[in-house]
Amino acid sequence: MRRVAILGATGSIGTQALEVVARHPELELCALTSGSTPLDDLAREHGVEHVQVGGDPLALLQAAEPDVVLNAVVGFAGIAATLWALEAGVTLALANKESLVAAGDLARAAHARGGGLLLPVDSEHSALFQCLEGRAPETIHSLVLTASGGPFRGRTRAELEDVSVADALAHPTWRMGPKITVDSATLANKGLELLEAHVLFGVPVERIEVVVHPSSVVHSLVRLRDGAALAHLGYPDMRVPISFALTYPDRAPTDVPQLDLAAGLTLEFEAPDLDTFALLPLAREAGERGGTFPCAYNAANEVAVAAFLDGRLPFLGIAETVEEVLAAASGSPARDLDDLVAADAEARRLAEDALAEVAVA
Ligand SMILES: NC(=O)c1ccc[n+]([C@@H]2O[C@H](COP(=O)([O-])OP(=O)(O)OC[C@H]3O[C@@H](n4cnc5c(N)ncnc54)[C@H](OP(=O)(O)O)[C@@H]3O)[C@@H](O)[C@H]2O)c1
Repeated sequence: MRRVAILGATGSIGTQALEVVARHPELELCALTSGSTPLDDLAREHGVEHVQVGGDPLALLQAAEPDVVLNAVVGFAGIAATLWALEAGVTLALANKESLVAAGDLARAAHARGGGLLLPVDSEHSALFQCLEGRAPETIHSLVLTASGGPFRGRTRAELEDVSVADALAHPTWRMGPKITVDSATLANKGLELLEAHVLFGVPVERIEVVVHPSSVVHSLVRLRDGAALAHLGYPDMRVPISFALTYPDRAPTDVPQLDLAAGLTLEFEAPDLDTFALLPLAREAGERGGTFPCAYNAANEVAVAAFLDGRLPFLGIAETVEEVLAAASGSPARDLDDLVAADAEARRLAEDALAEVAVA
């Protein structure tokens, strides 16, 4: 039996993870959390004793003694659980990319001390993990992250001036929570994934390429030094990377259909439009500057996306807010979690100031 804690159990990933767990009798749910949605019904349905709505999940995790923590919380709020699992050496199935982006150095150090498994649940990183597994670092030329391009692929800046929240939430290939769906529309999601891949695999951001691939069938690629490239393919369905992480290394079966190659599969790739989707180059810049600039990028983006979803900021204002915050943030490296929380708070304050200027204008 493998004891599984699902944090963010009421969200898009959390719900699909519950489906995966239900399919496998060797997976036993031991803890569930949410931000504010009541969990009584889910806890009763799944016979889970340890549940928590909001607040710090550490006491719950300690009491539940999971073998695997699936962190599917959205945003910086996932950080406590990420660092706890890494430090304790408990297997971390990580969907919450924001915590790894913000806490890159602290997470790497905690992972080294704890010595447990860190299994990415993001489909691109799960793909990269599988293509990289067992390979010597010197044989790796570079990583290639694929991006669907989101609902606004091919649009110009002028065409994005008046897009609505509903437009941004209409993702062409993935059904996800609202924050990551907006991030996919701005390409901040790919920016966060670039930074996440850097932390997970220790590859410099200059050697991580992003390519637009509208059908989302190729989940990512690894280029090797001999000119070969390894790709991971499959229909876009998060149950595959969730199941991979929860049943690793057994690779249990799922209900996801096999690729139908005979039906004709066209794989198209194109370069991202970096002028229109500025959040992608801004993420690269944050990664190159290092320190707590990735944390500031993430915090400013979270504030700006929330403001966009509330109707307080136009779509293009999200990138403008993040750019302003990166220009003003101190970016000093974080020695510990207190430093990191302070850097996150500073960036959120700067972002709120930038939003107040938009409101006045
Ligand atoms: N959805 C995908 O296909 C996908 C793919 C790759 C990676 N991811 C990543 O996975 C994470 C979750 O995404 P999602 O799409 O599943 O998001 P979502 O549908 O919005 O769900 C978020 C979950 O986090 C909980 N939550 C929110 N704020 C919280 C807080 N302050 N403390 C504790 N829990 C909190 C929510 O609880 P409430 O119900 O109470 O709000 C909900 O259970 C994100 O980091 C995202 O980038 C998602």
